[in-house]
Amino acid sequence: MLNFEFKNPTKIIFGKGEIAKISREIPKTEKILVLYGGGSIKSNGVYDQVKSALEGYEWEEFGGIPANPEYEVLMEALKIIKEKNITYMLAVGGGSVIDGVKFLSAAAKYEGEPWDILQKGIRTEEGKGLPFASVLTLPATGSEMNSGSVISRRATKQKLAMGGPGLFPVFSVLDPEVIRSIPKKQIANGITDAYTHVLEQYMTVKTSATLQDRFAESILQTLQEIAPKMMEDEFDYDAAANFMWSCTMALNGLIQKGVTSDWAVHMMGHELTAQFGIDHARTLAVIAPSHYRYNFEAKKEKLAQYAERVWNVTEGSLEEKANKGIEYLEKFFQSLGIATKLSDYTENYEGTAELVEKTFLDRKWLALGERGIVKPEDAKKIVEMAY
Ligand code: NZQ
Ligand code: ZN
Repeated sequence: MLNFEFKNPTKIIFGKGEIAKISREIPKTEKILVLYGGGSIKSNGVYDQVKSALEGYEWEEFGGIPANPEYEVLMEALKIIKEKNITYMLAVGGGSVIDGVKFLSAAAKYEGEPWDILQKGIRTEEGKGLPFASVLTLPATGSEMNSGSVISRRATKQKLAMGGPGLFPVFSVLDPEVIRSIPKKQIANGITDAYTHVLEQYMTVKTSATLQDRFAESILQTLQEIAPKMMEDEFDYDAAANFMWSCTMALNGLIQKGVTSDWAVHMMGHELTAQFGIDHARTLAVIAPSHYRYNFEAKKEKLAQYAERVWNVTEGSLEEKANKGIEYLEKFFQSLGIATKLSDYTENYEGTAELVEKTFLDRKWLALGERGIVKPEDAKKIVEMAY
């Protein structure tokens, strides 16, 4: 097991009706900005719950943060934070809103040009961001309990990651009841995103970190178990609760401790969102199977372990089991109605592989993945395989 440090300061408040507890967590002296997305919280009752929890507070609101949070929109929110002397932010939404608020947390206290935070990858250290909390409305990204964020700039077709230990939410409310109003397409996205988060921290090399492996495998199996229930019309509270907690646990730092991680699927996937606007999770389902086929030799032991332990594949050689693992993975995404080829999403896919290679070269991302196995020319071939 590799050496590690682990600190996750985010308090989780989990369960039905728990949004009301916001008022216990935020000091009455704070001046709050509530931020949200395109309006789903207004029609599903979440806004009203937040509003009544904030009775007696001084608060403002900022709506309209789009999916794949847009830099230009966030700059409008930053103006309000400065003009109104906001001291605390409350993100009410999915990964996009929470990520947007993380960027604002960093930008509000940053003396230089906010774009530098993304362009130069400036980290926000502990105690250096504007405090914020979240009410999660869409399980998927794990943003509610981690310190990472991904911001898009449509004008330049860029999608860049940022973060730092100062960007954990102070607390996050996870009420599975919010899942009732999520369209099935977004549920499928959430399951796929969380599932791939686990794979990025698991499908690497054989490890002696046995507990981490078992944590990862149990999250994968739980997601597989709840997936059909979540795709049914009838709402199942317990399935929803397990879905929500699995998404959080998939990317709150715990399962990546003591092991090597990959993240190349995400880096290639982000480019597909930047180019074509494809939903984040769907880009992962496009890239992951090709990534595992292309890097078969490096990953085959772990692929076989995945097939054995997660899908109960008992027959065949190591290679046969590993191949079965990739096959089952692809079928799992497809069972959620998620297409796994780039050509399923756009007719203009020609040239994408070259573009990804060039972007990685420009950014000097010369060795992604575990042990740096994915060089820009490999990324090109993987994306090509995903056409
Ligand atoms: O904007 P509204 O009207 O709220 O609608 C949203 C949005 O259209 C809707 N929605 C959310 N909760 C709902 C709901 N609709 C009905 N009922 C509810 N309860 O869902 C749509 C998608 O929301 P979004 O927040 O964009 O989805 P998600 O949580 O999947 O976030 C995706 C973003 O997170 C980034 C992605 O790159 C992408 O930009 N990621 C962030 C990560 C992190 N911070 O750790 C890691 C991930 O790998 C990912 O990269
Ligand atoms: Zn993701």
